[in-house]
Amino acid sequence: MTEMPTTMSATSASAAANTSSALLRLTNIESAYGPVKAIRGVSLEVKKGQIVTLLGSNGAGKTTLLKTISGIMDPVRGTVEFAKQDITGLEASDLVKKGLSHVPEGREVFPMLTVYENLMMGAYTRNDRDAIARDLEQSYRYFPILKERENQAAGLLSGGQQQMLAIARALLADPQMILMDEPSLGLSPKLTKEIFQIIRMINQDSGRSILLVEQNASIALQTADFGYIMENGRIVMQDTCERLMQKDDIQEFYLGMKQEGVRAERRWKKKKTWR
Ligand SMILES: Nc1ncnc2c1ncn2[C@@H]1O[C@H](COP(=O)(O)OP(=O)(O)OP(=O)(O)O)[C@@H](O)[C@H]1O
Ligand SMILES: [Mg+2]
Repeated sequence: MTEMPTTMSATSASAAANTSSALLRLTNIESAYGPVKAIRGVSLEVKKGQIVTLLGSNGAGKTTLLKTISGIMDPVRGTVEFAKQDITGLEASDLVKKGLSHVPEGREVFPMLTVYENLMMGAYTRNDRDAIARDLEQSYRYFPILKERENQAAGLLSGGQQQMLAIARALLADPQMILMDEPSLGLSPKLTKEIFQIIRMINQDSGRSILLVEQNASIALQTADFGYIMENGRIVMQDTCERLMQKDDIQEFYLGMKQEGVRAERRWKKKKTWR
């Protein structure tokens, strides 16, 4: 009889510790485009200061999940909690105010506005001028090319520079957490490496958490602390990146280490169970 309360309190203490350390928590999220269900019950969490990566093939639902978190889409079911608040169904602009920024797939900078004007769009929910000026300088330190091009139209920037602008614009909201959708898309390996170095710095300098969607599994697993693998709208595997990199399935299908090309991909598509 005396052991019972002790056991229970230990369990609830650890549950409380988990709750307090998760900055973002999704519970059984389902999202759909009309009748088409794209997310089929996803639960995941990102702790404060962590980089978490979300990997998966084309159409797995990664972008849809990020849109559901950032308030662009409402989930059909499930809850999104951020900084211990239920934020399910809130407007994107309210979430930016709460410290959640989204760097969308394909950058989506405003091509007719200057680089500076694009950056200021990132700060539109703020009125703390001194802090905005400080964050602008910090963004220019990360991406000096943006300072050089500050008065040029964003549409004239290269793809890599537009990606830098999209990340810097998210930083101008002074977020606690940044959702990044395929920052390496269309970039050269060299530029990808540079962008990922800066992503790491952004995380380390100010402890901002990052949820990183990437097609380049190798660089994502080397950058992040924890990873989720998504297929057909579901999480099929989750672990520390260190352990994920050791798994046969990951090496074969995401890191291309077995060099089986098309045959491997076909087998993976038929595969039902994950080790
Ligand atoms: N606007 C839309 N209307 C209808 N269906 C959509 C829409 N956007 C995505 N889908 C479908 O939802 C599913 C998930 O798409 P999503 O874009 O989230 O995948 P993804 O993992 O981001 O893929 P990718 O790696 O190609 O970016 C896919 O089956 C896709 O066809
Ligand atoms: Mg996508």
